Amino acid sequence: MSKQILVLPGDGIGPEIIKEAVAVLVAVNKKHNLGLELVDGLIGGAAIDQHGVPYPDETHAKAMNADAVLLGAVGGPKWDALDTAIRPEKGLLAIRSKLKLFGNLRPAILYPQLASASSLKADIVSGLDLLIVRELTGGIYFGEPRGIRTLENGEREGYNTYKYSESEIRRIAVVAFEAAMKRNKKLCSVDKANVLEATVLWREIVEEVAKDYPEVELSHMYVDNAAMQLVRAPKQFDVMVTGNMFGDILSDCAAMLTGSIGMLPSASLDQNGKGMYEPIHGSAPDIMNQNKANPLATILSVSMMLRYSFGFAEVADEIELAVSKVLDKNIRTLDIQSEGCTIVGTKEMGAAVLAELV
Ligand code: NAI
Ligand code: MG
Repeated sequence: MSKQILVLPGDGIGPEIIKEAVAVLVAVNKKHNLGLELVDGLIGGAAIDQHGVPYPDETHAKAMNADAVLLGAVGGPKWDALDTAIRPEKGLLAIRSKLKLFGNLRPAILYPQLASASSLKADIVSGLDLLIVRELTGGIYFGEPRGIRTLENGEREGYNTYKYSESEIRRIAVVAFEAAMKRNKKLCSVDKANVLEATVLWREIVEEVAKDYPEVELSHMYVDNAAMQLVRAPKQFDVMVTGNMFGDILSDCAAMLTGSIGMLPSASLDQNGKGMYEPIHGSAPDIMNQNKANPLATILSVSMMLRYSFGFAEVADEIELAVSKVLDKNIRTLDIQSEGCTIVGTKEMGAAVLAELV
């Protein structure tokens, strides 16, 4: 049976980078007879222009019907003056929440060829390849009650609620253990169980889920230590799993260890492994329509899709290897340029990856 992928190019550089990623997808689909079928849709500013809303019902129907979604980026100055309710970015939040994409996977991969782009010394980060699994639809960002209230003495107080139910913890733990099984079978769960009860339960449930994955080596770390270890010796980690807020902070930190925003893909998964895949960067209006955008984060998002939604791990490896070979040849877009390299545009970078695959 064919598997359907909804392609949402979005705005700014979105259509340019998606074009190159789709070319890669089409090529591996044909080469390996993967049975993938592509459908197009509108989101963000592109959808506002045609339908007046950033996430039209028609797009939602297509997303529900698809097995995976590939997204470029949304937003741009053209829509900045609009009321926040219909801003392009609302389209992104809407699709994430409507598809219940609670499992956010953010790899931080530093290609050895780009070691000089990192904020850390080359020997600390070269070869870095870690995956942060962040819970995306619960925790303190969503917990009720929340707000700012006035106390009896007239002073105001801001408050939020940090809570996770057993089922919320269990399902994200399963995503993390499954990811660990597809990698090096090593998982570090990050919490603050010495202070926060909610994370005492987190640790307990993660231990419980671990019984189903005896091959995975599980460790626990307090979040403050994890932040320190990430910048001290990041290569000690393979997969990390944590709640929404800790994951937000740690994944941004890990991403910067690798240097360029144009290199990092992401996945957001639901209960059944259906996922949305997108580069972590935005629509980069400053470089749109200039053939300057780095398409590699989007191409690597295709690789994640094949790995996590469809189980084509070998094809995913093949795409990642192709990217690495292109970097070996010192072919670079502007954002990852270094001395002695050949600077190319979006199209040429896409073509170079494609040439390694066919
Ligand atoms: P941005 O990520 O679009 O750009 C930040 C900087 O990185 C810019 O200088 C840009 O040229 C550069 N950059 C980004 N992607 C690149 C790539 N693939 N190759 C080379 N250089 C790249 O973030 P910014 O400027 O804060 O936001 C621009 C628009 O994107 C805004 O409307 C924002 O709301 C939206 N946005 C959308 C996101 C999404 O769709 N997931 C995420 C972040 C921002
Ligand atoms: Mg953040």
